[in-house]
Amino acid sequence: MLITVASTKGGVGKTTSAVHIACYLSQNSSTLLIDGDPNKSSLKWASRGSLPFKVVELMQSPRHTKNYEHIVFDTAARPGKEDLEALVEGCDLLVIPCSPDILAIEATLETVDLLESLNCDRYRLLLTIVPPTRKTGEQAREALSEYPIFKKSIRQYAAYEKAALAGVPVYESRDSKARIAWSDYSAVGKEILA
Ligand SMILES: Nc1ncnc2c1ncn2[C@@H]1O[C@H](COP(=O)(O)OP(=O)(O)OP(=O)(O)O)[C@@H](O)[C@H]1O
Ligand SMILES: [Mg+2]
Repeated sequence: MLITVASTKGGVGKTTSAVHIACYLSQNSSTLLIDGDPNKSSLKWASRGSLPFKVVELMQSPRHTKNYEHIVFDTAARPGKEDLEALVEGCDLLVIPCSPDILAIEATLETVDLLESLNCDRYRLLLTIVPPTRKTGEQAREALSEYPIFKKSIRQYAAYEKAALAGVPVYESRDSKARIAWSDYSAVGKEILA
């Protein structure tokens, strides 16, 4: 399965989502993460520590893709219309992370309108960085309720930043909420394979 993670807004959790979706998929199948962002955030994450799957840069990927059952593609923020069309064409599922703030929601609604105009039904929205204790997550879900969206939201936990810093999956980060944080992406992984 080829899963692309993209959004027209920066900093909404694309890399964090790509890394953890790849973590989930790699539990049972060979999984490759392709870092398509010039910032190389996924590659840097892997280089600081160790991730349970291989990460390669886009230019290296032709050599590797044939050896893997699942490929997760982390992309740069703000793809243009044509880039988005190409991304959609090239994957089985487009995951669009969206944080529960008005700027991200507006950008996501524009992206989704574009996808709908292309008759694309291979995408799913993922609410990310949702404060666990406030109503913002529910309000954001309401605003996006017309569109395909993962049932599980990704809650906001400091464990993710610690994991990125240590170069490990969130379940290996030294944080009391590490396991709870992982349970969110684990549920999203199950939804992807269902
Ligand atoms: N669920 C979460 N809880 C807390 N912090 C998070 C969560 N997800 C991501 N973050 C933090 O938010 C910031 C942005 O996340 P990330 O780098 O994954 O976003 P991105 O969309 O890939 O950004 P960019 O557009 O720069 O590529 C990072 O500091 C990351 O650690
Ligand atoms: Mg990123």
